[in-house]
Formats: sequence, C-alpha cells, structure tokens
Amino acid sequence: MNFHTRKWVKPEDLNPNGTLFGGSLLRWIDEEAAIYAIVQLGNQRVVTKYISEINFVSASRQGDIIELGITATEFGRTSITLTCEVRNKITRKSILTVDKMVFVNLGEDGLPAPHGRTEIKYVKDQFDDEKKD
Ligand SMILES: CC(C)(COP(=O)(O)OP(=O)(O)OC[C@H]1O[C@@H](n2cnc3c(N)ncnc32)[C@H](O)[C@@H]1OP(=O)(O)O)[C@@H](O)C(=O)NCCC(=O)NCCS
Repeated sequence: MNFHTRKWVKPEDLNPNGTLFGGSLLRWIDEEAAIYAIVQLGNQRVVTKYISEINFVSASRQGDIIELGITATEFGRTSITLTCEVRNKITRKSILTVDKMVFVNLGEDGLPAPHGRTEIKYVKDQFDDEKKD
C-alpha cells in the first residue's frame, strides 16, 4: 500500500475529547480515495458508492503527522474497490482502517459506464505509455 498524503493534525481537526475528529478523518480519506479512483480510472466523473465498516483503531492528537494509504483490491466493470489505512507517520501506529470503498465510474449522462481498467496503473507506467504514443 502506498501512503501518498500526509496531514498535520491541527486544533480545528479535534473533537471535544481533544483527539482527531472522526468526521475530519473521513473527509480526508474519502477525498484521497476519490483522487486515487480518478487517477486509476482516468475519469473525473467518479462517485463514492459504498463504504464498508470503518474501524477507528486508535486516537490521534494535535501535532501528530498522519499518512493516508490506499490501494485498489478489485476492478469491476464500472466500479473500483479500494482498501484504506491511516497511520501515524512517525510511530506507524494504525489510526483507521476501511476494508472496502467502492467508487463507480460515470459517463457524461451520469450513469455507470465501463472503465475498461483491470489492474493498478502506476504513475511511472502512465508516463511510459505517453512516451510510446
Ligand atoms: C453511483 C450510482 C450512479 C450507481 O447506480 P446503480 O444503479 O447502483 O448502478 P449499478 O447497479 O449499475 O452498479 C454500478 C456498480 O456499482 C456496484 N455496486 C452497486 N451497489 C453496490 C454496493 N452496495 N456495494 C458495492 N458495490 C455496489 C455494482 O456492482 C456495479 O459495479 P460493476 O459494474 O463493477 O459490477 C448511484 O447509486 C448514485 O448516483 N449514487 C449516489 C452516489 C453519490 O452521490 N455519492 C456521494 C458523493 S461522491
């Protein structure tokens, strides 16, 4: 799993308990996963369809640096399934896991459209493809 994005936990991200607010974390992970799906499917019209159980494994505190990891586990006809983990960048302690996030590829009409992808595409491969074109 690649951990691309880092976040610095700030006062505005905290709950009344003084730890990272779950809503902030979910917003970050949904955005990160959407960007991952857009890049993998090569289409900006991608929507979140389904999010499985979310496990808030451990708390994060102000000043912590956390990192968001996503990887694709399945490519369907119009969907892509991802798995996610958020962890403390320094201690590597797990903060949140989401087993399954499903995104659906849409056509211009807003309906599910086949994306034609079957495997993870890495940035390096995308540049290699462009060189071949
Ligand atoms: C996304 C949406 C267009 C899909 O419509 P739909 O009628 O469910 O479409 P389909 O039944 O054709 O399913 C599309 C894909 O989603 C998958 N899917 C549908 N429901 C699912 C579920 N509950 N769990 C997992 N996958 C699901 C299907 O298996 C299919 O994947 P595949 O083509 O790879 O096999 C529609 O549900 C929608 O607009 N939802 C709201 C999306 C949204 O606003 N998200 C929040 C903001 S981004």
